Amino acid sequence: MRVLLAITGGIAAYKAVDLASILRKRKDELKIIMTENAMKFVSPLTFAAVGNAEVYTDEFEYRGLISHTGLSSWADVMIIAPATANTMAKIANGIADNIVTASALAFKGPKILVPAMNVRMYENQVTQDNLEKLSKYGWKIVEPEIGHLADGEEGKGRYPENARIIFEMESLFTKKDMDNLKVLVTAGPTREAIDPVRYISNRSSGKMGYEIAKAAVLRGADVHLVSGPVNIQSPFNVKRYDVESTQEMAQRVLDILNQVDIVIMAAAVADYKPLETAQQKIKKGLSLDLKLVKTTDILSEISKVKRPDQFVVGFAAETQNLLENARHKFESKSLDMIVANDVSRKDIGFESDYNEVTVITKNETVHLERMTKNEIANSLLDILLKEIVKKN
Ligand code: CTP
Repeated sequence: MRVLLAITGGIAAYKAVDLASILRKRKDELKIIMTENAMKFVSPLTFAAVGNAEVYTDEFEYRGLISHTGLSSWADVMIIAPATANTMAKIANGIADNIVTASALAFKGPKILVPAMNVRMYENQVTQDNLEKLSKYGWKIVEPEIGHLADGEEGKGRYPENARIIFEMESLFTKKDMDNLKVLVTAGPTREAIDPVRYISNRSSGKMGYEIAKAAVLRGADVHLVSGPVNIQSPFNVKRYDVESTQEMAQRVLDILNQVDIVIMAAAVADYKPLETAQQKIKKGLSLDLKLVKTTDILSEISKVKRPDQFVVGFAAETQNLLENARHKFESKSLDMIVANDVSRKDIGFESDYNEVTVITKNETVHLERMTKNEIANSLLDILLKEIVKKN
C-alpha cells in the first residue's frame, strides 16, 4: 500500500517514528510529510532513516513533482499521526498553509486522523466540533486514549497504540462481510508435561490460525482466539486466551463454544499425553519408558454438544493420502468444512508464511494454490461464508 504519513507538532511525534518503522516492515511504500512544528520534536532525518522513506517539509518543493499535489495523488491512504488541535482546525476549515494541510486538502482517498494532545485542548468544544466536521468530511478518527499526558495531567489525549492505527488502516480496505459473526479460532500446538522441564508437543508455529483470527476480525467478526504457546503478537482487537495442555484448550473452547457462530480448530493438538506427569524432574538413565494415553479429541467433544446452526471447521495435517484422510476426519468429526494440507512439503506449512491447502465441504472440494497464509485465511473465510449461506 502507498502510505502518506503526516507528522504534526505534538510531543507524541516521537511515537510516530515507530509507526514509520512498522509500515516499513510491512513493506508498505511510504512517504512522509512534516510540519515545521513537528520538526521541533523529531528531525526529518530520523523519519527518513527509520521509515526508509523520502521526507518532505515544504509544500512548494519540487522533486519531479510538486510536493503537496504530487504526494496526495500518489498515496492510497493518508495518515496524520499525531494530529494537533491546530492542524485539525485548519483542515476542518479548508486552510492549506503548509505541506500537511495542503496535502490533506488535495487528497481524495481514505484518510486517518490520530489526534493527540493535552486533555483540555482535546475536550474543548471547538476541537470536538472540528472532529465532528472532519469525520463528516470522511476522516476516520482514531480516538486518543485516556491516561498519563506529557505535562503530568491525566485524561483523554494520549497517542494510541500504533497497532490500532495499522488495524484501522487495514480495516478501511477490508470488506465488512463478517459483521455480527462470532468466531472461535484455536491456534498453535498444545503441550503435555512429562515432568516439570519436559513435554510432548506438535510442530506448529500458529501462523495459520493467527492469520485466520486476524482476517476475521478485520472483516468485522468478534474473534476469540484460544492459543497454545506460540511466538506471535496478538492480532489487534482479538480476545486471546493462552493455554498450554490439550485439557486446558478443551476446557476453554467448550466454555466459549455456546457464544459463537463459527469454530475454526487450526490448533495442532497433541494426541497423546503421559499417563502420569512426574512431579520432580526425571533423572537421566540409559533409556526412559513413557506410557502415553490419548488426549481429549476437542473436535469430537464439540460435535457432541454443538447446535445445528453452528459451523465447525477442522484442519487435517497429513503426510500421505491427503484427501482420503481428510475426508475420513470430515465425516468422523461431523465437520462442516475441513482444510487439508500436506505437512511433508518444506515450502509450505509449519514455520512458512505460505501454505497450499485443499478445502472439503458438503458441497465442494476446492484446491487453493500456494499463496501467503494471509491470502489462504481470506480464501478460507470466503468459502466458509458461502457455505453458511447454503447451510441456513
Ligand atoms: N483435534 C482436536 N483434538 C485433538 C486432536 C486434533 O480437536 N485431540 C483437531 C485439530 O485441531 C484439527 C483436527 O482435529 O482441526 C484434525 O487434527 P489432526 O491432528 O490432523 O488429526 P487427528 O484427529 O489427531 O488424527 P491423526 O493424528 O490420526 O491424523
